Amino acid sequence: MTDLLQPHAIGQDLVRRDGELKVRGTATYAYETPVEHPAYAHPVQATIARGRVTAMDTAAAEALDGVLAVLTPFNAERLADASDAEYAVLQGQDVGFRGQLIGVVVAETSELAREVADGIAVRYDEQPHDAELSADRPDLYAPEQVNAGHETDTAEGDVAAAMAAAEVTLERTYSTAMYHNNPLEPHATTALWEPAGDGFLTLWDSTQGVHPDRAAVCQVFGLDQEQVRVVCPYVGGGFGSKGLPHANVMLTALAARALPGRPVKLALTRQQMFVLAGYRTPTIQRMQLAADSRGRLSAIAIDVVEQTSKVKEFAEQTGVPTRMMYASPSRRSTHRLAALDVPIPSWMRAPGECPGMFGPEVAMDELAEELDIDPIELRVRNEPEVDPETGKPWSSRNLVRCLREGAERFGWSGPRAHRDGDWLVGTGVASSVYPTMRQATSTANLRYEDGRYVAEIGAADLGTGAWTILPQITADALGVDVADVDVRIGDTRYPVASVAGGSSGTNTWGSALVVAAREFRTKFGADPRDGDEASGDVDQAAQDDTHSPYAFGAQFVEARVNADTGEIRVPRLLGVFGVGRVVNPRTARSQLIGGMTMGLSMALHETSAWDPRIGQVANHDLAEYHITVNADVGEIEAHWIDEHDPYVNVMGSKGIGEIGIVGTAAAVVNAVHSATGVRVRDLPVTLDKLL
Ligand code: MOS
Repeated sequence: MTDLLQPHAIGQDLVRRDGELKVRGTATYAYETPVEHPAYAHPVQATIARGRVTAMDTAAAEALDGVLAVLTPFNAERLADASDAEYAVLQGQDVGFRGQLIGVVVAETSELAREVADGIAVRYDEQPHDAELSADRPDLYAPEQVNAGHETDTAEGDVAAAMAAAEVTLERTYSTAMYHNNPLEPHATTALWEPAGDGFLTLWDSTQGVHPDRAAVCQVFGLDQEQVRVVCPYVGGGFGSKGLPHANVMLTALAARALPGRPVKLALTRQQMFVLAGYRTPTIQRMQLAADSRGRLSAIAIDVVEQTSKVKEFAEQTGVPTRMMYASPSRRSTHRLAALDVPIPSWMRAPGECPGMFGPEVAMDELAEELDIDPIELRVRNEPEVDPETGKPWSSRNLVRCLREGAERFGWSGPRAHRDGDWLVGTGVASSVYPTMRQATSTANLRYEDGRYVAEIGAADLGTGAWTILPQITADALGVDVADVDVRIGDTRYPVASVAGGSSGTNTWGSALVVAAREFRTKFGADPRDGDEASGDVDQAAQDDTHSPYAFGAQFVEARVNADTGEIRVPRLLGVFGVGRVVNPRTARSQLIGGMTMGLSMALHETSAWDPRIGQVANHDLAEYHITVNADVGEIEAHWIDEHDPYVNVMGSKGIGEIGIVGTAAAVVNAVHSATGVRVRDLPVTLDKLL
């Protein structure tokens, strides 16, 4: 248990410190970093899904005026470490998926680079590819672990016996689509190698973490950390796709290495992002529930099938939330993967929890219907007193409060259907959950300079609000006015910081800042002098491992379905969350409604239409990959309960970046079912599935 910070600046509804720069267009993003005499790079991509590049005709391209370099697997320099097949760009002739990087053209203009890259003739030895996921593939395998170090399979009790003995059972298969992150700012890099000596590399890169980005680049190029600087003050969205660098970053650095002293810029096109920036694997979830007639679960099980790339493994931890969400003596979760000739899946907002709360939360709704119990009441009856997975007490678990308060605010009286003219109207609910994480590494420096407190930490603001809320935390830890505090982030020149991922940024960087601020106060008291300096590490911050820390939430949806056309509208979306102490209600609300909007998008609009015959997403642009826009969102409300969690960190804050997307799609499906009587078990819910 820790003494929570006394909130003064924390809790204030402060406007974004970077807001005006962004509105005025003067905030510099990676691609538009002003540099002297930039050159422009454009990738060459494989046009087969599997095989080998046998020849590339680059002579004509190289001879063209304005072309500065043409790199291919046949002439590119060897990287120091090619063990990561995603990062080992141009290190071999093998092709593992359509669109894989097989070359790069650097030219005086981006137009020329693109035209020349697209015109390079490539000869292949093409081999048959295998790019279709199904649950009955004979080659499914169990990965050693799943994302974030979770166990692949877990089991307690005997699910089969409980299923055989139960009064009511439910067995259903649910599936979620392939989804692609589409931050407005594409993945982009400006890279410059200084010509002198062994070289010094500066990367202005759109990233969720300058230090993890630098670490990966240093590894691949065999450089010391002192030889590389990564700068990223602003990010136009990431959602996990910029959590670790992708191959485009290595390609830009490699291209710039061929032109020392010349900055090289590379921005992925929207279509290239559908290949190179990671994506959420489609999932197939077989759910089993067993219960007595009052709805008390005796078994809950999820068996997940999903895909990864043969090039590099990524195993989404889809089964993880089922392990801890509800009380049940028998529980099982498994993950099986198909390794295919496909691009490499990766993080997308709430990996694991987001797809992994779809099956269970629709299944709970189906069970409630079967038992004729209100779906909120069913969840309340299965509240676990302690974490079923670890046996630890909860740091705070206010799911029931969120459900009850949400019901009140929403005007919930069960999944009620009525008809309004041509429209069938229904309501639905689902639970949300997200673990409260803190990373092991982050350091902050704090000094007094010209009458101001200046903190430095290599944190990232993806549009999340870090620029604004880190000064609030620092001010309260120092006991000073937030207007007197500056926090500088987004540069490896500042002390090491963890990735903005796993909704852990505020928890981690905030903890390091608090340690630094307390150290500062201890050393210099309330009257510091210019140059006074202190630092703090997150590992010095109080941490409680005896409790199980999670954020919870409840999502409510009103759906309207046109009785003739099947058109689906969601005029109301309401969420209530237990996310610990909210540092800034303005930025927090944006995170939560942003997540909910993305969840609505996942439910109704988004799907990457995979064509297994060619191994490509057919709708690889924003014209055809539909994302919820303003016209699709009606009333959307995010609320939070007053929650003081003394076990998570000294701020009492839980992560808020991801929980908003968790459960939304299930709540939409449940509302559509209440409106129409049609239970859609595979996402997205499109009108053809209702007719
Ligand atoms: Mo988030 S997918 O952990 O960046």
